[in-house]
Amino acid sequence: MRTFIIKANKAHTKADFKLKDLPGTSGRIDLLCRVLNSAFLLSHSFRKNVRVWLSLYGPPNPPKAIRFEGQGMKPKTLNPDELSTAKLIIKALKVGENLREPSKEIQVLPGIYVSNLTFEDIIRRTLKGATLYYLHEEGRPIERVNFSQNVAFVLGDHEGLTPEDEAFLSGIAEKVSIGRKSYLASHVVAYVNIFLDSITPPP
Ligand SMILES: C[S@@+](CC[C@H](N)C(=O)[O-])C[C@H]1O[C@@H](n2cnc3c(N)ncnc32)[C@H](O)[C@@H]1O
Repeated sequence: MRTFIIKANKAHTKADFKLKDLPGTSGRIDLLCRVLNSAFLLSHSFRKNVRVWLSLYGPPNPPKAIRFEGQGMKPKTLNPDELSTAKLIIKALKVGENLREPSKEIQVLPGIYVSNLTFEDIIRRTLKGATLYYLHEEGRPIERVNFSQNVAFVLGDHEGLTPEDEAFLSGIAEKVSIGRKSYLASHVVAYVNIFLDSITPPP
């Protein structure tokens, strides 16, 4: 199983943005759409062994968490175009709008869940079943890491993680790097997926 956790500190937690101007009005939900695309989609196929957590901390109701489970999602749910993925996020935010309980998850569609879980909650849950890594330019080169079957990767949005996020992760997530340049979050996810494919025997 591969888990990707993206902490989006500016991404809106209510569907109050314009689909026609996602970068300018949503706190960069366009970036999250591209991360989902890189995490799940293959050419004419779909990765069932992937889970993605979007941890949203923008206005007006942080935190919101949206969980995408490859095992449970119907392959036609996620499509390559950014707009239809943004509509899935909008649907999740609408379903979760009146949710008050801190840890209850509501199913939005098969394999897609919304909740008020915090970033820390997501990390604690993930640590129960996977080894956690923090994707960072200055981390250990990815080729030198011995990955187990169940791995989870935390990454930041366009602004990266805050010092508080980093302090929380220190000691529980090893920093891993795909190179010394700062790459787009969606490119990092695509690279990690392709790298893990290369070291995993085909089914
Ligand atoms: C667009 S980058 C954020 C850049 C931002 N200026 C910063 O200071 O983090 C988004 C995320 O991709 C991941 N990332 C970017 N380049 C990377 C690299 N070379 N190796 C590993 N992860 C990387 C990091 O988790 C980063 O927070």
